Amino acid sequence: MMATAKKLEKFAVFGHPIGHSKSPVIHQQFAKQFGLDITYEAIDVAENEFEQTVREFGKNGGNGLNITVPYKLEAWQLADVRSERAELAGAVNTLKFSTGNNGELKIFGDNTDGVGLVTDIQGNYQVKIKNKKVLVLGAGGAVRGILAPLLDCQPQLLLLANRTVSKAEVLVEIFGHKGTIKATGFDNLADQQFDLIINGTAASLKGEVPPLPGTIFAKNALAYDLMYSAEPTPFMEWAKNQGAAKQTDGLGMLVEQAAESFYIWNGLRPDTGPVIKLLR
Ligand SMILES: NC(=O)c1ccc[n+]([C@@H]2O[C@H](COP(=O)([O-])OP(=O)(O)OC[C@H]3O[C@@H](n4cnc5c(N)ncnc54)[C@H](OP(=O)(O)O)[C@@H]3O)[C@@H](O)[C@H]2O)c1
Repeated sequence: MMATAKKLEKFAVFGHPIGHSKSPVIHQQFAKQFGLDITYEAIDVAENEFEQTVREFGKNGGNGLNITVPYKLEAWQLADVRSERAELAGAVNTLKFSTGNNGELKIFGDNTDGVGLVTDIQGNYQVKIKNKKVLVLGAGGAVRGILAPLLDCQPQLLLLANRTVSKAEVLVEIFGHKGTIKATGFDNLADQQFDLIINGTAASLKGEVPPLPGTIFAKNALAYDLMYSAEPTPFMEWAKNQGAAKQTDGLGMLVEQAAESFYIWNGLRPDTGPVIKLLR
């Protein structure tokens, strides 16, 4: 009797540019933990070719995709069905392909960024969010993706501070039904202290720190920068100098969001600790 060849599972991350992506290493490490044979490529997709490239990947036997900048909104539009968290985030970073009854390609879209962040904070850093005061800086795409999972943890207050206050107010409108969330500017924070301060602005990318008073850190506060880099980010350095008890970048979030995508595709939960250690 002929042995049936084991099917090779096929994944990739689509973005533009994509050269920096750590996702192929992360997913190969996860697959190794379960003895799974996968391919995972980082593919630079040219503008205007996103939808066509996604559909071809799915039709050619692709199982799933991660989607990164600048295609998360297009991925959201492309998905036939979306999870509730992706629906609220307005962005999709994980696509899963299947075949419908008539042989047509079906695309499921999810957003694992927020659950990745929450798992890193509560699991890896052991900082519980329930009943805590949380300050989130920024109101762009990354912040929109993390608000629902953060509010699901029932913080006492989630204060959303942004340079352009009106953008924070729009997000409060969208997410207000999920918990206590308020909008403010950076100049209204002088008398308040927070247990968890998340920098979701793009300031670190330019070597800058949002204009914040140094008094915002409660005792044992965790300062979390969504951006990750080999060196401590400007926000982490600033938080340390102001006396924040703990500081981290977003590398743990990156690995945890990947683990959630891996679970969506394969139904298996990888051990993230060794992978975070390897990347550090
Ligand atoms: N770890 C991970 O897995 C992960 C995943 C996704 C994103 N990220 C990181 O998240 C960060 C934000 O990305 P994004 O996609 O949300 O960007 P985005 O949509 O362009 O949003 C940028 C936000 O940053 C604010 N901002 C920009 N420069 C600023 C400055 N100098 N001072 C104060 N605020 C400033 C903007 O304020 P205005 O509204 O006033 O313009 C806006 O709220 C990036 O550092 C990115 O690397 C990490």
